[in-house]
Parts: sequence; C-alpha cells; structure tokens
Amino acid sequence: MEISDALRTNGAVRGFTDEVVPDAAVAELLDDARFAPSGGNRQPWRVAVVKDREVRRRMGELMRPVWQEYCGANAVGRRPFAFGKSIDAPPVDVPNALIDEIETIPVVLAIAADLREIAIMDGNVEHRPPVVGGASIYPFCWSILLAARARGLGGVMTTFLSRAEQAATPLLGLPDDHALVATIFLGHPTHQNTKLKRNPVESFTRVDRFDGEPFSGS
Ligand SMILES: Cc1cc2nc3c(=O)[nH]c(=O)nc-3n(C[C@H](O)[C@H](O)[C@H](O)COP(=O)(O)O)c2cc1C
Repeated sequence: MEISDALRTNGAVRGFTDEVVPDAAVAELLDDARFAPSGGNRQPWRVAVVKDREVRRRMGELMRPVWQEYCGANAVGRRPFAFGKSIDAPPVDVPNALIDEIETIPVVLAIAADLREIAIMDGNVEHRPPVVGGASIYPFCWSILLAARARGLGGVMTTFLSRAEQAATPLLGLPDDHALVATIFLGHPTHQNTKLKRNPVESFTRVDRFDGEPFSGS
C-alpha cells in the first residue's frame, strides 16, 4: 500500500472478528513500529502485550467510569477533559465495544513511556500543561496502527486508562517514572472505515503566523 493511501485511510477500528492474531504477527508489527522517531532517539516506549483475561477485565473496570465521565460531558455539550474546562456533569452509561469486549479482543497492548528518557521541552511552561513529551511516544503508537493496517489488521489507540493510571499501576506493574500513555486494541476488522472526516488544510494553516493569511498552497 502507498504510504499516502495508508495515511489517508487508516480509520479507527473498534469491531473485530474472532480470528486470532498470532504473537508472531504482533511481534512483527512492533518490529516495524520501533523505527518511529523519538526525541534524541531515546525510544522511551515500553509495551505490555496483555493476554491475561483477568487483567484485561480489570483494565476494563478502570476504563468504564472514565468513559462514563466522557459521555456525561458530551451529553451536556462539554469538551471532555479539555484544558481549562471542567466536566461538571453526571456520568452517562453508554455501551462501549472496546470495554465491553476487552477480554476477547484479539490484541490489547498497554503502552508506557519512560519519563526519564523524554525531553519534556515545555515542562517549564506554567500557563498550560506540558504536551511536547508526548511527541516522543505517540508516533510509535501511530506506527503500530499503520503497521497493523499493512497486515490487514485494524485497531484504535485509546487513552481512557491514563486517567486511572494510579489504579492501573499495580495491575500492570507500571514502573516508577513511567506514564501509561495508551491502550491499543488490534484485530481483524469487521469493518475498515477508509472515508475519514478530517478538516481541509486551509482550515488550519496560515502564512508566517497563526493569525496570518490563509495558506492556499498555490
Ligand atoms: C490520543 C488519542 C486518544 C484516543 N482515545 C480514544 C479513546 O479513549 N477511546 C476511543 O474509542 N478512541 C480513542 N481514540 C480514537 C479517536 O476517537 C479516533 O482516532 C478519531 O475519532 C478519528 O476516528 P476515525 O479515524 O475513524 O475517523 C483516540 C485517538 C487518539 C489519537
């Protein structure tokens, strides 16, 4: 598949067939993903391939209230967990296939980042939370999803468990100074969405400054 096609069509997959994904296939796609970039090439990613159904069940238990909080905010028109926004809304219980079926989804990967290996370039900024450190780990996560697509698999990156990181720490044996940055679900898609809704370039691009003239590309 052309890289451009893969980039434009790798929609989130949240429904999977029962077909098993062998460990060898998981190892292969991690073997592709490890070529992702990271600040200073420190490769701060750590991966737990979560196979134990009981561990998965408990991960789901930790994710569910976060999902309900998210749905509660959405239900009253709030941006869930956005900077500077309080949720201040009752949780809402909506089915979630990933959480409901976490025990049987073919592949569940918990992704951690070793914070001692990340240059958090905006760690000293006081008026907002630091975000740049994530750039040393999320390209790796996205590469997993692209590598999965290259093998006819599909999946989705999720972050609900990060909100319950403290509770998940003993469950997953998360080491000190590590952050739980994502849980990635993979499998053979029941449906691969390739028609993605994304905003056009001119809607988010300006010349010279973020308040500059629109960048037309012509
Ligand atoms: C940082 C990040 C966090 C995400 N967290 C979740 C999540 O917790 N649960 C979920 O179902 N999808 C999650 N997603 C998937 C997004 O919902 C998905 O990429 C987006 O809606 C676009 O979907 P599409 O590719 O099918 O168009 C996350 C994606 C990213 C990049």
